[in-house]
Amino acid sequence: MLTKLRGIFSVLSVFAASETVLLSAPPRGETSWSEAIEKASEFVSNLTLTEKIGVVSGGYLYPSLACVGSIGPISRLGFDGICFSDGPAGVARSDGVSVFPSGITVAATWDRELIYRRAVAIGEEFRAKGAHVVLGPSTGPMGRHARGGRNWEGFGPDPYLAGVSMNASVSGIQSTGVQACSKHLVANEQELQRTSSTAEDGTAIEAISSNVDDRTLHELYLWPFADAVKAGTSTIMCAYNRVNGNYSCANSDILTTFLKEELAFPGYVISDWFATHGTENFANEGLDIEMPGNVSTLAGPAYFGDRLLEAVNDGIVSEERLDDMAKRVMSPYFRLGQDDSFPTVDPSSGPVFLTYQFGHGSPLSAYYPEVDARDVRGEHAAIIREIGAAGTVLLKNINGALPLTNSSNVGVFGNDALYPTVGSVYFDIGGHSEGFEWGTYDIGGGSGTVRHTDLVTPLEAVQEKVKSFGGRVQILLDNDKITEGLFKTIYPVPEACLLFLKAYATEGVDRSSLDLEWNATQAVESTAAICPNTIVTIHGPGVVHMPWADNENVTAILAAHYPGEETGNAITDVLWGIVEPSGRLPYTIPKTLADYGPDIVESPERNATDGWQSNFDEGQLIDYRHFDAKDIEPLYEFGFGMSYTSFDMSDALEVDVTANLSALVDESQGIEPGGFIDLWTRVARVAVEVSNIGSRTGHAVPQLYVAFPQDTTPEGTPVKVLRGFHKVSLDAGESIAVQFELTRRDVSFWDPSAKQWVVPEGAFTFMAGFSSRDLKSTFETSILA
Ligand SMILES: *[C@@H]1O[C@H](CO)[C@@H](O)[C@H](O)[C@H]1NC(C)=O
Ligand SMILES: *[C@@H]1O[C@H](CO)[C@@H](O)[C@H](O)[C@H]1NC(C)=O
Ligand SMILES: *[C@@H]1O[C@H](CO)[C@@H](O)[C@H](O)[C@H]1NC(C)=O
Ligand SMILES: *[C@@H]1O[C@H](CO)[C@@H](O)[C@H](O)[C@H]1NC(C)=O
Ligand SMILES: *[C@@H]1O[C@H](CO)[C@@H](O)[C@H](O)[C@H]1NC(C)=O
Ligand SMILES: *[C@@H]1O[C@H](CO)[C@@H](O)[C@H](O)[C@H]1NC(C)=O
Ligand SMILES: *[C@@H]1O[C@H](CO)[C@@H](O)[C@H](O)[C@H]1NC(C)=O
Ligand SMILES: *[C@@H]1O[C@H](CO)[C@@H](O)[C@H](O)[C@H]1NC(C)=O
Ligand SMILES: *[C@@H]1O[C@H](CO)[C@@H](O)[C@H](O)[C@H]1NC(C)=O
Repeated sequence: MLTKLRGIFSVLSVFAASETVLLSAPPRGETSWSEAIEKASEFVSNLTLTEKIGVVSGGYLYPSLACVGSIGPISRLGFDGICFSDGPAGVARSDGVSVFPSGITVAATWDRELIYRRAVAIGEEFRAKGAHVVLGPSTGPMGRHARGGRNWEGFGPDPYLAGVSMNASVSGIQSTGVQACSKHLVANEQELQRTSSTAEDGTAIEAISSNVDDRTLHELYLWPFADAVKAGTSTIMCAYNRVNGNYSCANSDILTTFLKEELAFPGYVISDWFATHGTENFANEGLDIEMPGNVSTLAGPAYFGDRLLEAVNDGIVSEERLDDMAKRVMSPYFRLGQDDSFPTVDPSSGPVFLTYQFGHGSPLSAYYPEVDARDVRGEHAAIIREIGAAGTVLLKNINGALPLTNSSNVGVFGNDALYPTVGSVYFDIGGHSEGFEWGTYDIGGGSGTVRHTDLVTPLEAVQEKVKSFGGRVQILLDNDKITEGLFKTIYPVPEACLLFLKAYATEGVDRSSLDLEWNATQAVESTAAICPNTIVTIHGPGVVHMPWADNENVTAILAAHYPGEETGNAITDVLWGIVEPSGRLPYTIPKTLADYGPDIVESPERNATDGWQSNFDEGQLIDYRHFDAKDIEPLYEFGFGMSYTSFDMSDALEVDVTANLSALVDESQGIEPGGFIDLWTRVARVAVEVSNIGSRTGHAVPQLYVAFPQDTTPEGTPVKVLRGFHKVSLDAGESIAVQFELTRRDVSFWDPSAKQWVVPEGAFTFMAGFSSRDLKSTFETSILA
């Protein structure tokens, strides 16, 4: 969402803060869509025309600015309204909340259970704050561009891993009775010109258009949204950008044909904040709620609300469509039992937010007095710490550098080790693509950031650890001082030099390069020049540049992503081997930016209103599919990550395919949210044996890749695609059999001319291994008889 609150002054109104707090009311549990739709229909049938308009027209009015958008209450029917809050990694703009690991961090765990448990914990905090809807999870952007400002909010550029993550996240959030809003639909891959703007001469410049072919949409960008719908996502947020010429929020190919027809999505489509640019065309092409709606009266008009009423009265939006919109909005509310004992909105988020915008003592404070926040963190620090460690990827470990022993002399270096000198919120959207100089990043910036109630820094955690066994810590945090290379204050040279470096990413601006920031590259080289045991930890949004990776004195590298508020404890657990590093890369690290594939579009194709065009000519070939197709050697490949033990896999791969499979979906089995039921039928099973051949317990992540037959699929078919993974814990010497189950969708391609999924004839190759480039066993078989 856009954080410059245009027109905020127009909506201020005072709400009494007295309320009953219902923190402990348990969610009622999901009921079926059909029962919920019935209740919603009955509810809507009792509404007046203007009430129906209200149900689909967002605003900020609902209690005390504590929600980032809301649907107003209809008290005569006992409807308290709907409160929406950012964002995917915790409750934004609030006090008494946890900062969870970001999407890319939890994807790097490759652990379905952890992804699910994170989502449950997030859902619990939203519920306790009285927010009905989490604006998350995100799988758009996926990460077509390594420099994309928001890639870290989602689960990475592989649709299978992202799909599994969407399912686990939606399921986890909704198990707490809170609605998941899966976003941003679709092909929302860059921040630059992501939405419309105005040129200096006053002409409107449209948002960038992502021009993507139908097959690529189905097999890549839309794929994880199908998992979200299958999992029962309540709502889907359409994106700022245009797709093939039309705004995402006014694109019937995406919203109606794909989402509501092909996937049979029964919930509602909500616009990203200020992504609605019209009334009847948006409503008629498939948008169900405009956000933030009424707030924009000063900055520009709301397009729903009174204008929608006029359009309905004029017959250009049918009342039938309005009823459909209203029913869609109300169905998830009833499905999750939100009509029954949902906690009230915590009013404290209003003053927290206003204070961040305007500081203390602004005239507005009179309307939004400080009130103590509900502390909703519970025991969530434990899961945050666990995921922070499990999402850390060990990329290099030589000379037995890790795990650390009880060295008596440890160095902590680098500007990422300490508490942020800017304070508890990294919220500088649209400005500084490099973030702030001093302080750790445990999360990125923008609407997806979360304010810190607590933060355990790497410096604190390492100091506590080293003191526990009587060692000492020498500290040098200023990268410029480190870069000088003199280390005048350091004596003797530490046995282990822990260097913490960082890269920022935020909504609103793409990264200017893949480099770690603040002279970090030179800082590695100068540290390594005096310290032959330099251990580099990176806190960053994903793909970063590591020109120093082969330096002989850099003995270990850890990609710790944005791990959330327990960042210091999580990395300390891994460094000292309390926890095995078990993360694997959910993206590829290239040697150079140029190797990675399509870069951000930096300028319009032509000087015209719709000059910004991004042509997805590479089709499905992003990330590892690009490296495979172009035969480029990555620095560290998709799926890679080391452990403190080692694993092996049997050569034998067993593949079992359902006999007599038809090439086409059996449509007679019916359709439900997620699409044709038969698309989700299990049609193949692959089994392989994995062993721990090292001397410690550890987690293996066996991965299954599938090469589709090239001669019976259209051009552009990737060399191979991920179609299965498991995370398994193995004791030293232990072996276990791992099974991957494949659905019909997993072995089908989208035929754009027939508009259907097809299992191709010919030989498939199944490949299992420990990364996309470490394949241990393969088996070739056709799937159709
Ligand atoms: C709506 O009206 C029907 C009668 O048409 C009534 O039975 C029902 O209780 C009403 N529902 C609500 C939510 O008020
Ligand atoms: C926005 O304005 C419309 C039209 O006046 C109204 O129906 C709706 O309830 C308002 N929404 C909110 C949340 O205030
Ligand atoms: C989706 O996630 C839930 C909860 O983790 C799990 O029970 C279910 O099997 C998953 N569904 C699919 C299709 O993977
Ligand atoms: C694109 O927008 C135009 C103008 O509103 C509309 O006529 C057309 O149906 C839209 N196409 C799609 C695919 O939504
Ligand atoms: C290292 O120190 C910890 C206390 O922090 C202690 O529990 C452990 O036994 C020590 N390990 C060795 C190998 O001395
Ligand atoms: C550090 O980087 C800044 C620009 O980012 C540069 O001006 C400065 O000279 C660098 N310092 C050193 C010691 O390299
Ligand atoms: C590695 O460390 C040794 C010993 O301190 C030093 O002589 C050498 O120059 C270092 N190498 C690099 C590449 O910094
Ligand atoms: C657009 O106009 C600017 C300024 O007049 C010019 O520098 C630029 O080359 C033009 N771009 C294109 C694509 O024509
Ligand atoms: C497969 O189809 C053939 C021909 O239709 C039939 O004879 C055979 O029994 C089928 N096999 C199975 C396992 O269903």
